[in-house]
Amino acid sequence: MQVLLSAAELASGIDRLADTVRREYGRRPLVVVGVLTGSIVLVADLIRRLECPIELSMVSASSYRGTATAPGRLELRLDSLPDLAGRDVLLVDDIFDTGRTLEALVAELRRRGAASIRSLVLVQKAGRAEVAMQPDFVGFDIPDVFVVGYGLDFDGAWRHLPHLAALDSADIAAARVGSAPRPDAHRPTPVDPAGDART
Ligand code: XMP
Repeated sequence: MQVLLSAAELASGIDRLADTVRREYGRRPLVVVGVLTGSIVLVADLIRRLECPIELSMVSASSYRGTATAPGRLELRLDSLPDLAGRDVLLVDDIFDTGRTLEALVAELRRRGAASIRSLVLVQKAGRAEVAMQPDFVGFDIPDVFVVGYGLDFDGAWRHLPHLAALDSADIAAARVGSAPRPDAHRPTPVDPAGDART
């Protein structure tokens, strides 16, 4: 497992994202819609940097099943959303991979009559998009690797890491045979940050 983005780098990225959101909305009230479960850490960090009135709602989207790293059928649950008619909505997700999750969610939010919908993601994977839409705000561009930490998990593991790490094949194999996360999971090998593609 290799660190792609340290906790300090993530914090700077969230600062930049919060500045962008502040510039976009000013003091206008905002409905922030987070996507469970991967966005919980990002949402918690982001909303505490914003000063406009915020109503927070969480929806659920799952496209990864069990120990798979390839997307499965997309399941959405939006039953806890407030009335969005005429309101400004900021949709927050952990990662833009194929983009199918965000595209489906934006379509659902649009159906509910939101005045505006913008999407924000922590990271966008290179060369994976399968949809025409792009997220409006992106924290970091990353290479096409499976990442965990800062809310993202692999089969339930590593969500709590304070940094973002790329899994290697040994990590994935260990998780697939049902092993607990390796004891060194909290001490990933740092990589030269110049080697990644973040913005
Ligand atoms: P799509 O392909 O719809 O995927 O953009 C979005 C959702 O897929 C999950 N995902 C990942 N989860 N590490 C993860 O822990 C990854 O590298 C990864 N890539 C996609 C995630 O739930 C995201 O919301």
